[in-house]
Amino acid sequence: MEALRAVQILNPSGEITMPRPAHPRVLAVANQKGGVGKTTTTVNLAVALALHGNRVLVVDLDPQGNASTGLNVPHHAGVPDVYDCLIDNVPLAEVAQAVEGIPNLFCVPATIDLAGAEIELVSVVARESRLARAISAHPEKFDYVFIDCPPSLGLLTVNALCAAQEVLIPIQCEYYALEGLNQLINNINLVRQHLNPTLDVSTILLTMYDRRTRLADAVEQDVRNHFGSKVLEAVIPRNVRVSEAPSYGQSVMTYDPGSRGATSYFEAALEIANRGVNTGGTA
Ligand SMILES: Nc1ncnc2c1ncn2[C@@H]1O[C@H](COP(=O)(O)OP(=O)(O)OP(=O)(O)O)[C@@H](O)[C@H]1O
Ligand SMILES: [Mg+2]
Repeated sequence: MEALRAVQILNPSGEITMPRPAHPRVLAVANQKGGVGKTTTTVNLAVALALHGNRVLVVDLDPQGNASTGLNVPHHAGVPDVYDCLIDNVPLAEVAQAVEGIPNLFCVPATIDLAGAEIELVSVVARESRLARAISAHPEKFDYVFIDCPPSLGLLTVNALCAAQEVLIPIQCEYYALEGLNQLINNINLVRQHLNPTLDVSTILLTMYDRRTRLADAVEQDVRNHFGSKVLEAVIPRNVRVSEAPSYGQSVMTYDPGSRGATSYFEAALEIANRGVNTGGTA
């Protein structure tokens, strides 16, 4: 069973088994709470969709550079990165790197330079829409662009919210999960009113679900009551393989494709792809 699942997930033939959207979909993966699974979600959804026939770009918008690490993309000091696009108008195409071993997947890395961007952006013209401009100027249209946001609501996250049509909010199944979410939603509403009228919180993903605790179940019910059909059916379990994968520069999809972590991210990706088609592509 596990081997069969692994083949289904790795899709060695490369055929298109997840429908490609009619229009490019740009998703900001955001939650200002730290450590809720933003990067893990970005990396694994991107790999899953790319393995199944979609062209995918990951933009690492966090100075920590975790998404770049997770995809094994060089991002040491001196590597051209998203900072250069935001501050110096360098085209995305010049800094995007192909992700080794995953056809159709590209990553714009973040280096430590990005740590200064939050402050430097303040005095830059059109400071909120630098990333939006860089993405729309890219000559090739990706099926999906995932923007991995930092755990804050500063100018970097605002850039992601201006560049995206959709927000994907990972929520960790823990007691304080919903605290702070109002603040995120308020910010999204502000961006919608003033900068990006079609921005939509399209997707909520429950992460690090521990089925042994009653609390996780209570949080899930809370989130489903509050956000209804925006919450994906697929729930990501707490799974040690998911947390091991980045130290091998891999996603869990390739590190252990038979694991529960890989299966659940595969299901989440499939749901996102199918929803995009059913709604005619929100992008
Ligand atoms: N499903 C999971 N099972 C076990 N560990 C997980 C799971 N998802 C994420 N983790 C681990 O939890 C930690 C936080 O995850 P991640 O880095 O994806 O969160 P984040 O929201 O991007 O954090 P930050 O706010 O710092 O950017 C990481 O060590 C990651 O490996
Ligand atoms: Mg992160």
